[in-house]
Amino acid sequence: MSSVPVLLPTTLVLSVRDVAVGHDGHPALRGIDVDAHAGRLLVVSGPNGSGKSTLLSVAAGLLTPQSGTVEVRPGTRTALVPQSTPLPAHLPLTVFDLVAMGTWARLGFWRPARKADRAAVTAAIAKVGLTGLSRRRIGTLSGGQRQRALLAQALVQRADLVLLDEPMAALDAHSRTVIADAVDHLVATGAAVIAVTHDPGEFHRIDDRLALEDGRVVELLSERTR
Ligand SMILES: Nc1ncnc2c1ncn2[C@@H]1O[C@H](COP(=O)(O)OP(=O)(O)OP(=O)(O)O)[C@@H](O)[C@H]1O
Ligand SMILES: [Mg+2]
Repeated sequence: MSSVPVLLPTTLVLSVRDVAVGHDGHPALRGIDVDAHAGRLLVVSGPNGSGKSTLLSVAAGLLTPQSGTVEVRPGTRTALVPQSTPLPAHLPLTVFDLVAMGTWARLGFWRPARKADRAAVTAAIAKVGLTGLSRRRIGTLSGGQRQRALLAQALVQRADLVLLDEPMAALDAHSRTVIADAVDHLVATGAAVIAVTHDPGEFHRIDDRLALEDGRVVELLSERTR
């Protein structure tokens, strides 16, 4: 019996159309089209300088394209975990505080934290393997630990669009598995996840792949039928 692909309805969370971006006159993205769907993992790869981080900045709304359109589904909560975040070591903010800020996006920061919120923060910190560091100041964390703390914040935030810039590049083998599990959790709970990586094999299951080269899409593949 031949198998017929089942076409499931999906929700378009992000739609990037014919986008061009330049940094100081140098083109970083040219004529880019990208879609991200709820409950799917899109992996973006490509050589250094091919525009991967620029694409995430555009998707996060941090960078305005020179031409083209970027549409995000109304009501979308976006979380970005950058490649590196320079922070002063003395910044008086602990891992717990940073992750707890994820509840503000959903509930407003004026509402006092409830027991359930604190439990969600503790659970997210455990999910990214940072339990022992929850009282540490974020400025004293290593790059990989800092990315994991931001990922925990995205979990707490229940972000609908999660943008991860090389989330495993600075991690040991055990931590990679921990993060791959957290990404599975985000996708299973309906988030659209876009992850930049040089090693797609570090994820358990990929839905869509995009390869960039010199600011252009050179390959777009769907691994799982929608
Ligand atoms: N703030 C900036 N000012 C000037 N040029 C920039 C800036 N940010 C990026 N670029 C340039 O834009 C291009 C794309 O950079 P981008 O950081 O998006 O690449 P990338 O694919 O993420 O690379 P990597 O794998 O090294 O992280 C590169 O040529 C880079 O030098
Ligand atoms: Mg980059």
